[in-house]
Amino acid sequence: MADLHVNIAGVDFKNPVITASGTFGFGQEYARLYDISRLGGISCKGTTLEPRMGNPAPRIAETPSGILNSVGLQNPGVEGFLQHDLPLLENTDTVIIANIAGSQVEDYVETVRRLQDAPIDMIEMNISCPNVKEGGVSFGTLPKSVENITKRVKAVAKQPLIVKLTPNVTDIAEIAAAAEAGGADAISLINTLTGMKIDIHTRRPILKNNTGGMSGAAVFPVALRMVWQATNRVHIPVIGLGGITKWQDAVEMLLAGATAVQIGTANFTDAYTPLKVIDGLNSYLDAHGEKSVTDIVGKVQPW
Ligand code: FUM
Repeated sequence: MADLHVNIAGVDFKNPVITASGTFGFGQEYARLYDISRLGGISCKGTTLEPRMGNPAPRIAETPSGILNSVGLQNPGVEGFLQHDLPLLENTDTVIIANIAGSQVEDYVETVRRLQDAPIDMIEMNISCPNVKEGGVSFGTLPKSVENITKRVKAVAKQPLIVKLTPNVTDIAEIAAAAEAGGADAISLINTLTGMKIDIHTRRPILKNNTGGMSGAAVFPVALRMVWQATNRVHIPVIGLGGITKWQDAVEMLLAGATAVQIGTANFTDAYTPLKVIDGLNSYLDAHGEKSVTDIVGKVQPW
């Protein structure tokens, strides 16, 4: 069996398969189905400084091979996360990633400050949520602002910092470089693509928020292209996500240059997807005589 371990910013993952923030809660529903310690890592639902109720419903709509969501960062706030949600993962033997978001730079900084002594392995900073009126994606679309918020948060973070990028930009490599310049230890991409769906009979948008973030299999080629462009630009590890539904997608992401992958929307259609990806990766590496998963990272041979 090939070695599936990967190292990101000094953190050892038993395999490169992480569940994506917002699709896995804090793992408890999935823990009823399988041993979540088999995962390489879990990125928890996004946490903000104060609790948030999220956006009014409807906030999920199906699209061809995907979904639109406009959840609006519903979460119990950082204190709720620390007191109630994080302890649920206490005995889980996997890398725990706290995903954080905010309306202002100061919110991010204060949230990370409160996580300084928490039993988490990494922080994933979400500057890519398209569903909130203030903050979210607005921090993630201009290189200067990406660099600035990364610097500010990195200055208080005790755990390695992953910056989660939006695809809703013109030049993803430029944004990735800005995160690296700000001191990010790693980047993850892509978050959702802004989209919309209209009920032709009522002539109203299906989502109460009017627009939402699109994810699922339909976005995979866009995610793959952006991961490839980002890894060609930065020297920090890249975590690839966006529309991965099967192990072959994960292999493509690794070949494109990702050190690890996240599984998101696929958890909703098949809760066992992360385990199937781990098993499929193993078989692929054996079939190709690879000793370690790291040996295929970035091995695509562009024409
Ligand atoms: O609306 C949401 O909670 C989604 C967040 C995100 O896509 O980052």
